Amino acid sequence: MAHTLSGPERAKFTAAKLATDYVKSGMKVGLGTGSTAAWLVKQLGAMVTEGGLDIVAVPTSSRTAELAIDLGIRIITLDEAGWLDVTIDGADEFDRDFNLIKGGGGALLREKIVAKASHKMIVIADKEKDVATLGNFALPIEVIPFGLQSTQTLIEAKLKDYGFKALNIQLREKNGLVFITDEGNHILDTRLVRIANPRDLAVDLNRIPGVVENGLFVDICETVVIGYENGKGEVRTLLDGKTVTATIQDDKNIFSVIGQ
Ligand code: A5P
Repeated sequence: MAHTLSGPERAKFTAAKLATDYVKSGMKVGLGTGSTAAWLVKQLGAMVTEGGLDIVAVPTSSRTAELAIDLGIRIITLDEAGWLDVTIDGADEFDRDFNLIKGGGGALLREKIVAKASHKMIVIADKEKDVATLGNFALPIEVIPFGLQSTQTLIEAKLKDYGFKALNIQLREKNGLVFITDEGNHILDTRLVRIANPRDLAVDLNRIPGVVENGLFVDICETVVIGYENGKGEVRTLLDGKTVTATIQDDKNIFSVIGQ
C-alpha cells in the first residue's frame, strides 16, 4: 500500500481484522456498510481468494455489494440465505448496553433487517464510537418520500413529547441533491444530544406513518470489537446482562498484510 494509514483508519482496520476470527468456512455472513465495514469486506475478500475461506454473504447496501463482488465474495440475497450465522457492521455510536445509533452511511434499513436475521450481530468500531449515552450523533430516520412534510411534523411532535427541545431536523442531502436510500426513501437527521430511553423512542418513531425505520438498534448487537491504532483491540460481549471484556494484545504485526 503506497500511502500510510491515518490513526483512525488503523483503528478501524484493527477492529475489522479482529472480527474476521468470527467468520468460518460454511457460514452465511451479513456484511455491513461504512468505512469500518469496508475494511472487513476487504479482509474477507483476501481470505476468500487467498486463504480458501468458503462463505456466502448478504450485503447491507449496494455499495457493500459492489465491493464484495469486486473482491470475489459470493453474494446471495437475504431470502436465499434465510438466516445468517453472523452479521458484522460498523456503528456511529454504541453505549454500555450495546444500544446503537446507525445509519450515518444511509443504509440503516437494510442493516437492521440483515442484523435481525442473524444469529449474532457484531459491531466493529474505534473508541470514538463508545459513548455513555446515545445522541451526540444525529439520529437518522428513514422516511418514504410521500407526505414527507407531514411525516416530519409528526416526528417533531413525538420528539417534543419525549422532552427534546430545539429540534433541528435536516433532510439529508448528498452532493447537493436529496439523498435517496437503496430502498428509494429519504433520511431525516436530528441531533438529540442525549437519548435517555432509546428502547421506547425506537418503537414510538416507527409507529408514525411514513417512518420506515430509525437508526436506533436496541437488543440487536451482542458483541463489540473495538480496534486501536496500535493494533491492539478489545472485545466486549454481553453475557446474561453483564459485559465481559477481553483485551487483545497484538503479538504479530497486524498491519503487515496491508504493507504498513
Ligand atoms: C451505515 O449506514 C452506518 O450504519 C455505518 O455502519 C456507520 O455509519 C458507521 O460507519 P463508519 O464505519 O464509516 O464510521
